[in-house]
Amino acid sequence: MPATVITGGFFGDEGKGKIVSYLALKDKVDATVRGGVGPNAGHTVVYKGKEYKLRMLPSGIINESSKLMIGPGVIVSPKVLLNEMGKYGVKSRVLVDNNCAVIEEEHITRDNTGHLKETIGTTGTGTGPANSDRVLRIGRLMKDVGILPEILGDVPFEVNKMLDEEKQVLVEGTQGTFLSLYFGEYPYVTSKDVCASAICSDVGIGPKRADEVLLVFKAYVTRVGGGYLQGELNEIEIAKRGWKEVGTVTGRVRRAAPFNFELARRATMLNSATQIAITKLDTLFPKCKGVTRYDDLQVEAKTFVNQVEDATGVNVTLIGTGAEVLETIDRRRNIN
Ligand code: IMP
Ligand code: MG
Repeated sequence: MPATVITGGFFGDEGKGKIVSYLALKDKVDATVRGGVGPNAGHTVVYKGKEYKLRMLPSGIINESSKLMIGPGVIVSPKVLLNEMGKYGVKSRVLVDNNCAVIEEEHITRDNTGHLKETIGTTGTGTGPANSDRVLRIGRLMKDVGILPEILGDVPFEVNKMLDEEKQVLVEGTQGTFLSLYFGEYPYVTSKDVCASAICSDVGIGPKRADEVLLVFKAYVTRVGGGYLQGELNEIEIAKRGWKEVGTVTGRVRRAAPFNFELARRATMLNSATQIAITKLDTLFPKCKGVTRYDDLQVEAKTFVNQVEDATGVNVTLIGTGAEVLETIDRRRNIN
């Protein structure tokens, strides 16, 4: 399918980066386009033993013929972007929209004090203050700062042109449904909506251009920062279950709880999901580690997958069984 939108179903850190990189590689996509908030996101991609830590660049990076674009709705940190382009040597494939708003030092300072730091527990990356300056129409845009003119352009035009030419485009969301400014537990949310329609808007495509909406859930729920987490486990129980995670951007230990079927159902509705991916199934069922055929999953794991499908009414088409990109079960051909 030409345009697939990928979003998170819980509170971010569902493993979207891994799923996007799998699709970018397997479907030989022509472009991966980042929507979402900004460098508050941290996507980890592991391919052939190499780990990519991405906060600005799209996770399609491992497909060397895929263009890497950032839509105008995304807040850009030129510093983080430059660092990632240099580290991974991908500058020639990058296109950043002229109208992306820019994170200034002062935004980072504001994000690390008072209400945002203490009550909300933000990532401290400056994205919220940068978004607020944008709404006040006093923030600077990429075209105003005069750096990197060679990678700036009109992302909505390029994306729509590619879709007109039947090219394969992945539209990559960040954060998760229940961190949405509109649909999460305000004020314990991020600074924008992050559901599928918002991600489309971030990159400049209308809702009719999305052929598939792939909603990603982790096999359990994690959350960082403030706010309610139903069924939250204590640290000892988290460690016992092997669910301990540390944030990619902030280094904070993530809170954790079992898979929440009710939230999964609501996220499916809010995103109009057409497919579901489950990541880290091997963390729930260690025998699943590295399995790439659905038939080879143990019966308990299959029962869990069926429960997710029953709760959401949507097919689980991709299943992650390890951190490596190719440790993935792909059921798309069997189902569609
Ligand atoms: P902000 O997006 O940095 O303003 O943070 C607002 C809330 O969203 C905090 O609870 C953060 O921990 C959370 N958050 C923002 N981005 C991510 C992410 O990529 N993964 C997980 N949590 C996030
Ligand atoms: Mg993350």
